[in-house]
Amino acid sequence: MKATYDFGLVGLGVMGRNFLLNVADHGFAVYGQDLDANKVDSLLKEKSSEHKLDASLKAEDLINALSRPRKVMMLVPAGETVDKVIASISPLLEAGDILIDGGNSFYHDTDRRESYLKEKGIHYLGVGISGGSEGARFGPSIMPGGHRPAYEQVRPVLEAVAAKYDGDPCTAYLGQKSAGHYVKMVHNGIEYGLMQLISETYGLLKTLGNYTDGQLHELFLEWNSGPLQSYLIEITAAIFTKPDPLGNGSLLDQILDKARQKGTGKWTSQNAMDLGVAVPSIDAAVRVREISAMKNLRTTAENTFGKPGSKAAPPQHLAEMAQSALLFGYITTYAQGFHLLHHASVAYAYELDLAAIAKIWRSGCIIRAALLQDISRTFSKPKMPEHLMLSPVFEKKVKEVLPYTREIVTLAAQQGTPMPGLFNSLAYFDALTSAELPVNLIQAQRDFFGAHTYERKDREGTFHTEW
Ligand code: 6PG
Repeated sequence: MKATYDFGLVGLGVMGRNFLLNVADHGFAVYGQDLDANKVDSLLKEKSSEHKLDASLKAEDLINALSRPRKVMMLVPAGETVDKVIASISPLLEAGDILIDGGNSFYHDTDRRESYLKEKGIHYLGVGISGGSEGARFGPSIMPGGHRPAYEQVRPVLEAVAAKYDGDPCTAYLGQKSAGHYVKMVHNGIEYGLMQLISETYGLLKTLGNYTDGQLHELFLEWNSGPLQSYLIEITAAIFTKPDPLGNGSLLDQILDKARQKGTGKWTSQNAMDLGVAVPSIDAAVRVREISAMKNLRTTAENTFGKPGSKAAPPQHLAEMAQSALLFGYITTYAQGFHLLHHASVAYAYELDLAAIAKIWRSGCIIRAALLQDISRTFSKPKMPEHLMLSPVFEKKVKEVLPYTREIVTLAAQQGTPMPGLFNSLAYFDALTSAELPVNLIQAQRDFFGAHTYERKDREGTFHTEW
């Protein structure tokens, strides 16, 4: 076989197949490989007459089909599978070839794999891809990181297949080593935060406001044409209209309330803690998924403690207040995510461009939202604010929605409605906007029991007192 194919893909699950078809749609000659014959067949069945596309069960066929330097993307489950594919494919590759991991790999693993392959002269790119299976097929947001000259070689493919915002591709080189996978991890942390905020808003409207699914659908449609406009609000509106295929009312009402997770949100929280950056809106989202998994314990505890007795009549403007509070939560969550990116960029020498990240998240990815346009403009300014909420445009937005946020938090506390995403967002904001915090007492206590010393307001140095 003549080595004339431009781009190879290992792993023809839904994501891989769709991504490869997307690359083929843009005129590149593509070759797929999977150990599962059904997956190879499914891809070949979808091939159109315009596509230059082939596939095989054998990695050798894929490698022999590709022109040099070879560009091979893996789209396989994160973790061990990636190492297995690398072990099987890397002996077939030559120095100068480019291996790309398009999955949700943990950034430390990407750094390790990059160093290992560098010894063999193989360039490794960690590339975050967001947008689910539809995005992969018709335009995802793509977050590449790694060896820059290698990126330049795959850049035409990535720019062609990425989602477009005003004609600009939603992809940009993000930085060395694991920068792409790190940014994707934080994308997912923000995704967790937003999903949590939406779900608790739904819970409040349903329990306190007695909103029906039909009314929720209308409300979310309306919200999706305002400042909350985002993919997650759009799909939520659609979810409210789906009937149960088994004929039992709405499908949403039949779905068990245990939220699963694959780990990217948890990694964001863990890493933020390591870097000393507070991301409590994201932490809350991870925590709720953990608490949600304990269905039996929750049921016993509700039977033991009950819920606050009197159910107040919903306030007249509940929906407007909830919309404002949700916008406050959205802004806080994005602000925390970008704050983490800023610190990680310094800690890991990624040299991230926050404006470029906000730009490539404006379309194609799960957290795409109207707010990202303002975020990208804010970070494009020569004098970037230290924190998103300190920029004049976000200061104004936050001041507008803050009173309603406080009202919603108060209502939820009185009703026993769990809204940890919003509560944590507000508590974060209140701590962040307190020039004085009462933690002088913590310093005094530490010094009292452990002689840990403290600093003083009126002079330099560290002090200890025999309390
Ligand atoms: C995306 C999604 C995608 C995946 C999540 C789900 O950007 O397209 O984030 O990567 O759907 O990883 O994560 P959980 O299973 O942890 O909710």
